Amino acid sequence: MMKFRQSLILVLIPLLCLPSSWAEASEKAWKAMAVTADPAATQAAVEILKKGGNAVDAAIAAQWVLNVVEPQSSGIGGGGFFIYYDAASRKVFAFDGRETAPASARPEMFLGKDGKPVRFWPERISGGLPAGVPGLLKLLKTVHARFSSNKVSFASLFEPAIEIAEKGFPISERLGGALQKEESRLKLFKATRKVFFDKAGRRTLRAGEILVQEDLGRTFRLLAGEGIGPFYEGAIAKDIVKAVRKASVNPAKMTIKDLASYEVVEREPVRGTYRGYEVWGMPPPSSGGPTVQMVLNILENFSWDSLSSEHRMSVFAQAQRLAFIERNKALADPAAMTVDLEDFLSKDKAKKLAAVIDPVDASQALGPKDPPAQEGTHTSHLSIADADGNLVAFTTTIEHLFGCGMIVPGRGFFLNNELTDFDAQIYGEADGQVLPNAPGPRKRPRSSMSPTLVFKNSEPYLITGSPGGSKIIGAVLNVLVNVLDEKLPLQEAVDRPRVLNREGAVELEGFSLDENPGEQKRWESLGFEVVRHEAFGNTQSILFHEDGFLEGASDPRGIGAPGGVE
Ligand code: GLY
Repeated sequence: MMKFRQSLILVLIPLLCLPSSWAEASEKAWKAMAVTADPAATQAAVEILKKGGNAVDAAIAAQWVLNVVEPQSSGIGGGGFFIYYDAASRKVFAFDGRETAPASARPEMFLGKDGKPVRFWPERISGGLPAGVPGLLKLLKTVHARFSSNKVSFASLFEPAIEIAEKGFPISERLGGALQKEESRLKLFKATRKVFFDKAGRRTLRAGEILVQEDLGRTFRLLAGEGIGPFYEGAIAKDIVKAVRKASVNPAKMTIKDLASYEVVEREPVRGTYRGYEVWGMPPPSSGGPTVQMVLNILENFSWDSLSSEHRMSVFAQAQRLAFIERNKALADPAAMTVDLEDFLSKDKAKKLAAVIDPVDASQALGPKDPPAQEGTHTSHLSIADADGNLVAFTTTIEHLFGCGMIVPGRGFFLNNELTDFDAQIYGEADGQVLPNAPGPRKRPRSSMSPTLVFKNSEPYLITGSPGGSKIIGAVLNVLVNVLDEKLPLQEAVDRPRVLNREGAVELEGFSLDENPGEQKRWESLGFEVVRHEAFGNTQSILFHEDGFLEGASDPRGIGAPGGVE
């Protein structure tokens, strides 16, 4: 049980309290900074930065460690989006390593015999069918080839992860809790039981017990020795295909050709402006960058200083809802989109949407309430700034907790269930048209991942990103608004209770509702229905201070840490 701090903090709505277990976690440094979701991954990144590696090198080393210590969230069985600012050319690059549906995928793949989507948990998300062709390894190989410092080899970046995988580490409360939560699903897969259950195979390993991952260590050694070939065309590819085809749940038809033909796509990043700042994000197939920018475009129509704190948050919640309606209709794999991204991001469109917002009465903006999103809420984000001024914002995922639940036998990594990020139904209820985000062969499911860079006067100002399914967009926006508009110190901006509105009701964090009597009534008096959520997001952020130092802040909702280089 969380204990709560009794001190009063002046925030948006009077007397908001934060859990007392949330330790001050920000760190300052002059040269470089890494912030990830686990201290071991941060340490690996810092070691690489100290050896002269750059932000890309550090991000890769951290990712492999996350695969070991945070196996519920990301790994080589998944995919990710990588935003990179190259200080030398002053350019921002965006790389799409999203998982891709095999050629055998069909629009009706998640419909049951009755023509309705099969239940999300555990049926839809488990086994072979929801697994997309993993993109992460090729993504990181690609960015290393393009942007590495060349002071550390791709192979050497596996070393910290191999050491932890083979020696083992004590399972955190967070990982132990996730294992317990998913125990009944993980039990369905023999290879998963071998690694994550006790010797008798009866229960998942618990917090404090030592997790050794020999198979994963061996896989990393193979990749370090031979490069990514075995994964996409060789022995590991064969094992992935076999695992998917022979899955004890939802067997499906992935092929070696699906893996061999996987492509990382370099895309034009989303560039927007917000009250004088420049904001960069990931374009489709992520809805993250465009939706974050659309909300900011809407907010720009309101003078922040002329609104009370209560009305600011009302406007913020309404803007999110309006942007989510547009997102859900329009954004998907770019090959399936019928809406022009430039139009989606135009300030004119935002102005028209903003006209519906009334700070004192949300009823016009909210629209009919949508059914709750069905999606995983895991994933991981890391932010890195190196001594040369290069920046990485990298969000990485296997989708739900432990992805599809299935470890590739003998290889030690989970396969993703990313294909459940497609809309399970095929046709839109309103117009009967095929939904742009319906499943399809070789298609990439819509994501919400929002790795974000902000510049002020053309210089780096903020890096942030988060896990959390479509709540990612809200988590990132809360940090942006709290830093850029509320002008809060970084850690406070991260800690502050979050406000989200994806579906027509304002979604608030449970701790905030519990500790702040009257909060629910205040929102209701502005025309909002209130939905209670567990604390959401696990943002990892870096702020660039004017006098030259970097501040890293890890989200107290997780167990991550910043690590600076002096
Ligand atoms: N699976 C999380 C996302 O891509 O948004």
